[in-house]
Amino acid sequence: METELRQLRDEALAALEKIGSSAELEPFRVKYLGRKGGLIAGLMRQLGQVPREDRPRLGQLANTIKKEVQERFEEKKEALLAAPAAAEAGVDRSLPGRYLPFGRLHPVTQVMEEICAIFEGMGFAVAEGPDVETDHYNFEALNIPRHHPARDMHDTFYVTDSILLRTHTSPMQARIMETQEPPLRYIAPGKVYRCDSDITHTPMFHQVEGFLVDRIVSFADLKGVLTSFIHRMFSDDLAVRFRPSFFPFTEPSAEVDIACVICGGAGCRVCKRTGWLEILGAGLIDPAVLTMVGYDPDRYSGFAFGLGVERIAMLKYGIDDIRLYYENDLRFLSQF
Ligand code: DAH
Repeated sequence: METELRQLRDEALAALEKIGSSAELEPFRVKYLGRKGGLIAGLMRQLGQVPREDRPRLGQLANTIKKEVQERFEEKKEALLAAPAAAEAGVDRSLPGRYLPFGRLHPVTQVMEEICAIFEGMGFAVAEGPDVETDHYNFEALNIPRHHPARDMHDTFYVTDSILLRTHTSPMQARIMETQEPPLRYIAPGKVYRCDSDITHTPMFHQVEGFLVDRIVSFADLKGVLTSFIHRMFSDDLAVRFRPSFFPFTEPSAEVDIACVICGGAGCRVCKRTGWLEILGAGLIDPAVLTMVGYDPDRYSGFAFGLGVERIAMLKYGIDDIRLYYENDLRFLSQF
């Protein structure tokens, strides 16, 4: 009797193991666990014929076996019902999961976000404007009239005579000042376009424009804000210099240089042996620009600056060809 019970258990569990679809569950249950015709019940019924002293032990064994088969049957049923389609299609659910590759932000986006976060920390608000711009905002409102030689620096893509792809983010100065009263503190990040392409120029690139207008804004305020920005962006002890320059919309104007991040200022190929790298343009907003948006230049003054995001990312990460940003080579992009 004991041998028969154990054999039946092994046989039932082996049969259960082979079950691959929910359709096979019921025949199994009837055959082994059925209350009337089931094999286990059949053996239990014979317990009455074994010697009295063996009955409790064999009875207990029979119950344990019945319970075990029942439990394993329930487990199997649950597994098959949980994923019937997978089981019936012959999918092996014990295979390891598939690796899901996850993307990351483009280095230009990362640096753009970092630049914005630093200025936001200094109280600047963020504003975005149109890529397709009018000649008025891109040039006229910034004190660059038609036929002004400064237009030559911009290699403009024209859509029509008076509509173009913005060549810089500076038009946002005029757009914002026109609709709001000082005090103003804004940065305007975005794409800009110029008909130019080589290792340091792509036809589309990114700039962040910034400006502040209030009573009594001086060049010292501009120096303080930009020096703090550069120190946060690169490192606290990086040397910074302001070099006189010219922009039609600022007076006085400056270009800002940092000590060459490659050679530390000693002079190398990247900084053309000067020890300095130019990173942005800036100045005090020209009174003519303030007048055009309806501000009284005797009452208000302001500073403005514009920086190239790709250029800053190149200096920060030591990238020597701007075109790498837009070739979408994952070997390059996945390093950031
Ligand atoms: N708009 C200039 C350019 O794209 C950059 C610039 C220079 C912006 C000086 C400014 C500024 O606001 O004050 O070349």
